[in-house]
Amino acid sequence: MADLNELKEAAKSLRDEILNNVKDLANSKEAYELRKVFLDSKQGKIGQLMKEMRTVPNDQKQEYGKTVNELKQWAQARFEEVDRAMKERELQSRYEREKLDVTMPAVETVPGNLHPVTQVREELIDIFASMGFEVYEGKEIENDYYNFTALNTPQDHPARDMQDTFYVSPEFLLRTQTSAGQIHVMEAKKPPIKILSPGRVFRSDDDATHSPMFHQMEGLVVDKHITLSDLKGMLDTFVQKIYGENTTTRLRPSYFPFTEPSVEVDVSCFECGGKGCGLCKGTGWIEVLGAGIVNRKVLENCGLDPDEYSGLAFGIGLERIAMLKYGINNIKLMFESDMDVLKQINDQE
Ligand code: DAH
Repeated sequence: MADLNELKEAAKSLRDEILNNVKDLANSKEAYELRKVFLDSKQGKIGQLMKEMRTVPNDQKQEYGKTVNELKQWAQARFEEVDRAMKERELQSRYEREKLDVTMPAVETVPGNLHPVTQVREELIDIFASMGFEVYEGKEIENDYYNFTALNTPQDHPARDMQDTFYVSPEFLLRTQTSAGQIHVMEAKKPPIKILSPGRVFRSDDDATHSPMFHQMEGLVVDKHITLSDLKGMLDTFVQKIYGENTTTRLRPSYFPFTEPSVEVDVSCFECGGKGCGLCKGTGWIEVLGAGIVNRKVLENCGLDPDEYSGLAFGIGLERIAMLKYGINNIKLMFESDMDVLKQINDQE
């Protein structure tokens, strides 16, 4: 039989233990864990003490039960109190942490803007889409056939020298011109065709006006009775929308293997109106793109009958258009990601 006094002593020391431990609690989670140590219905120390009832002589059971019950009630009340205090403290420190000072100056949000080349790209797509053009995005890695041979520029053709090429393998290359897209479109679709193909092109070329990577936008129209005057009409509309109503174009004879005849297209100087200035080097005209009537051989290469169909094509350098439009004289400024430069070039506001 257990000694009642000893058991009472044990109850008292549990009480002291609780008082001692409660002092060191840091948060409500610790309080919860500590509560379990004493009051858990199975493992709790107070419950264990109650189990000693078996060992207490019958005539002392009542007194023993009362002692342990009192301890239990006291402990429950104590832990409730501690829990409340802890939660109150935690809430208070959360309020402190999350306090907003509404008098603080706001963090400035700087809205981004599209890259000048992207702005020009979107503007051109809008202009040509309003004339019924659809967009076809080609591939950046092409094979020799699509980039050159099908465009009437076979191996050893001297015109290949016009474009210093990055070869990936003897057969594959980084496209040097978006013209490669013309072939894919004509192979896939019967006329009428009216597409615009924007994208990155690559050439081993590097100076103030050339970059190894730049952007072009190809235009291709194939149908019955397409002529140079259709080309001139479309290009006039294009330059008027981009450079202003009084702008016009001039076609000069040129050479591209995939067009016959080929032309270089100049736009009347939008800076001086054609009188002659620094921008147009006194000539009144600025060269903006290459174009022409699709060479019969190119149509044949794509399985189209050149006696039935004819086409026009043009290739626009997007950086060149952007540089002229925003008065930038070095193509490198386009790719250096200098925010001070790029922020100034924003048509989208
Ligand atoms: N592909 C030519 C180049 O990169 C540009 C060009 C010229 C495209 C005449 C055309 C064209 O479609 O008809 O220099």
